[in-house]
Amino acid sequence: MPLIAPSLLAANFLNLQSAVSLVNDSAADWLHLDIMDGRFVPNISFGLPVVSALKPACTKPFDVHLMIEEPERFVSAFHQAGADIITVHYEACRHLHRNLEQIKSLGLKAGVAINPHTPVAAIAEVIEHIDLLLIMSVNPGFGGQKFIEHTYQKISTARQLIDARGATTLIEVDGGVTLANAPLLIAAGANVLVAGNTVFSAANAMQTIAALKG
Ligand code: DX5
Ligand code: ZN
Repeated sequence: MPLIAPSLLAANFLNLQSAVSLVNDSAADWLHLDIMDGRFVPNISFGLPVVSALKPACTKPFDVHLMIEEPERFVSAFHQAGADIITVHYEACRHLHRNLEQIKSLGLKAGVAINPHTPVAAIAEVIEHIDLLLIMSVNPGFGGQKFIEHTYQKISTARQLIDARGATTLIEVDGGVTLANAPLLIAAGANVLVAGNTVFSAANAMQTIAALKG
């Protein structure tokens, strides 16, 4: 059964408390938090004070997706704000191996995200050090975009690499995940599905989270 991580980016920002309550009461496994800096991606979302404020209200682990340049500058701060998993972008790290060690030294799970143009092979040499491989299925920066079909192939490639190395890395897919493509993503080898609009724009978000779990 896949893990489901609703993305708060698609929630009503005027009522984050109800979004968190919904996630608490649902079958969701993690809460996905999209942090954007207006540099690595052409958008700004929310930051540390929001994550800190949400933490005491949420019973699910915080899956923090850093879409920021030089993420090592903020790893410790997001740890203090309540992150359980911190994912940095391959494209934003000059010393990825060092950054993974930094995250893990704080007792957190370490994730690496790859953009649609980045081949899975780019992270092959550090796969054993990655707890979570986030495969972007849209270009990062915005919710509600169209799923890129080539992602299936990248998931299969990642699955083969992880299994061949005997690694325990989870594969997470982020962007354009729907009730229609979720079973195909799982069949291709994904373990974790992020869903923003599919969950928070649904008539019944709780039911949708349960349905995504399959
Ligand atoms: C995009 C973010 C995603 C986004 C997904 O940059 O990383 O997590 O919230 O939103 P949907 O599921 O609506 O495509
Ligand atoms: Zn994300």
